[in-house]
Amino acid sequence: MTDIKELLLSRIRDVADYPEPGVMFKDITPLLADPAAFTALTDAFAEIAERTGATKVVGLEARGFILGAPVAVRAGLGFIPVRKAGKLPGATLSQAYDLEYGSAEIEVHAEDLSAEDRILIVDDVLATGGTAEASIQLIHRAGAEIAGVAVLMELAFLNGRPRLEAALDGAPLEAL
Ligand code: PRP
Repeated sequence: MTDIKELLLSRIRDVADYPEPGVMFKDITPLLADPAAFTALTDAFAEIAERTGATKVVGLEARGFILGAPVAVRAGLGFIPVRKAGKLPGATLSQAYDLEYGSAEIEVHAEDLSAEDRILIVDDVLATGGTAEASIQLIHRAGAEIAGVAVLMELAFLNGRPRLEAALDGAPLEAL
C-alpha cells in the first residue's frame, strides 16, 4: 500500500451499527482533524483536477463540501455545491434518484454551470453510486462536461462503479 493510502486509511474510523444496526459507518472526522492527512487528501484530489483538465469542482452535500472546497482553492478553480432539494435560493436544476426505500432529489444553481465547464465531482464515499450518477445527469443537463469523479472511499461491494462508469462515458472514476 502506498504511504498516502496508509495515512488516509489510518484516519478513517469504523463505527459499528451507525446510523442503524448492521451498518458499518466510515467516519472521516479523524482525517479532517489531522492536518497532514487532510492536506495529503486535498493535494491528491487537486492533482486529479489538474490531470483531468477540470475547470470547476462540484462537491456533493454534505461531506463533499468539506472535501471539495479546499480542492477548488488548491487547484485555483471555482467550487459549486450540489445540494439536497430545497436548500438553494436561486433558479435550480433538479434531479431525482432512487434510494433503497423511496427517492431523493438533488439540485444545483443553473447559472453556476455552462457548456464551457469540465467538472470534477468530489465526495467522500461512493456507495451505490446513486448520488454521483444523479449529479452527472444534472451536470450534463446543464450542458457541462464531466472531467471525472474523485472520492476518498469506494465501497466496492455496493457496485457503484459499474453504474457510474456507464454514466461517465470514459471519464475517470478515481477512489483514493
Ligand atoms: C453519503 C455520502 C455520499 C452518498 C453515497 O451522503 O457522503 O454523498 O451518501 O451514497 P450512494 O453512492 O449510495 O449515493 P448522505 O446521503 O449520507 O448525505 P450527508 O453527507 O449529507 O450525510
